[in-house]
Amino acid sequence: MTKSITSTSRRRFLGGVGAAAGVAAATSSVPTRFAIGQQAKIKVGILLPYTGTFAALGHNITDAMKLAINQAGGKLGGREIEYIAVDSEADPAKATANTNKLVVGSKVDVITGPVHSGVAAAMVKITREEETLTVISNAGAGAATGEMCAPNIFRTSFTNWQPAFPCGSVVLKDGHKRVVMMYWKYAAGFEFAGGFRDSFVPGGGTVMKEIQVDFPNVEFQAHLTEIAALKPDAVYVFFAGGGAAKFVKDYHAAGIKIPLYGSGFLTDGVLQAQDEAAVGIKTTLHYANDLDNPANKKFRADFKAATNRDADVYAVQGYDTGTFLVQAYAAVNGDTGAKKQIIAAMEKATIDSPRGKFTFSKAHNPIQNIYLRQVKAPGQEVFLGVAHEALADPAKGCKMA
Ligand code: PHB
Repeated sequence: MTKSITSTSRRRFLGGVGAAAGVAAATSSVPTRFAIGQQAKIKVGILLPYTGTFAALGHNITDAMKLAINQAGGKLGGREIEYIAVDSEADPAKATANTNKLVVGSKVDVITGPVHSGVAAAMVKITREEETLTVISNAGAGAATGEMCAPNIFRTSFTNWQPAFPCGSVVLKDGHKRVVMMYWKYAAGFEFAGGFRDSFVPGGGTVMKEIQVDFPNVEFQAHLTEIAALKPDAVYVFFAGGGAAKFVKDYHAAGIKIPLYGSGFLTDGVLQAQDEAAVGIKTTLHYANDLDNPANKKFRADFKAATNRDADVYAVQGYDTGTFLVQAYAAVNGDTGAKKQIIAAMEKATIDSPRGKFTFSKAHNPIQNIYLRQVKAPGQEVFLGVAHEALADPAKGCKMA
């Protein structure tokens, strides 16, 4: 039976006008709009950085998303796919124009990405208004599944608060009471600092100083001198991609022996480049390379075979985005107009992820384990344990939650 959606307005769909009614009306032999539209390719928009400090992140997310879809037959709900990628440059100033290229210009059926929280803020503002299906495959901006949450907006990655929150308790357990924080001065940095504080300060810790660095600046030397002079028990940082590689090398080269903590983005994807400088670093994240589950083992081997690169958390998020899209469109046989049913399928989805199985909160963000990892030798980071099991973001301000 061919499915048909007869509503004329996307808004009315999300408002509850029944896809079911459309399906019931689809028994006539007259070709329906969907039957004709089904020939068309599904347009998957990708807004990710392919240049700048986050370039490697964008490539891993993209390649792993395509890998998951290719492994499922290379189609979504039986339809061919047209990928339309735009280089976000991780630049919030260009984010509105770049999102509009995909949403208004290319009229994509779904948009995925970005990496940078500032880009996500601009993207979500548009896709919320336009009701374009959105799957955030990295950026942790709390607002996207907080005050800006919407039925059509999902995230397969994390909120910045999620990997940060358990780390405050880890640092206290390790016996460190006075901490200096250092992070890029934009939404993600503020939210990582906030998540850390949320467990560290009530647990009895003191934040001596928060050092903020303009994004994507990597001039760390003067700040490292200041840290050495402050003599905290530990240092907690948020940097990622090229910036994280440089920070860790600079910290080591400065001869600072103060224990270094961070979100796992400090080492993921850059561990080889950091070499011996990273040894000893402890981080918390929703993934660890050596997680002992079959999905992870298969994924790491498949990603390596497909790209000749080692998988990292970004690849995992891309892969899970691909799996999520496969499941969502399979539920409606590729009928991109059946938005209400697509959303219902997405809300119910369980993703058998390399990070471990996860489901979505009412705010459409993963409920997931946060793992503690430590770099034990150059290029070798190991899983130490679960820092927080099945952690949901508080989703402050989300009316759906
Ligand atoms: C963000 O801006 O939300 C962001 C960027 C890079 C990361 C994590 C979060 O690795």
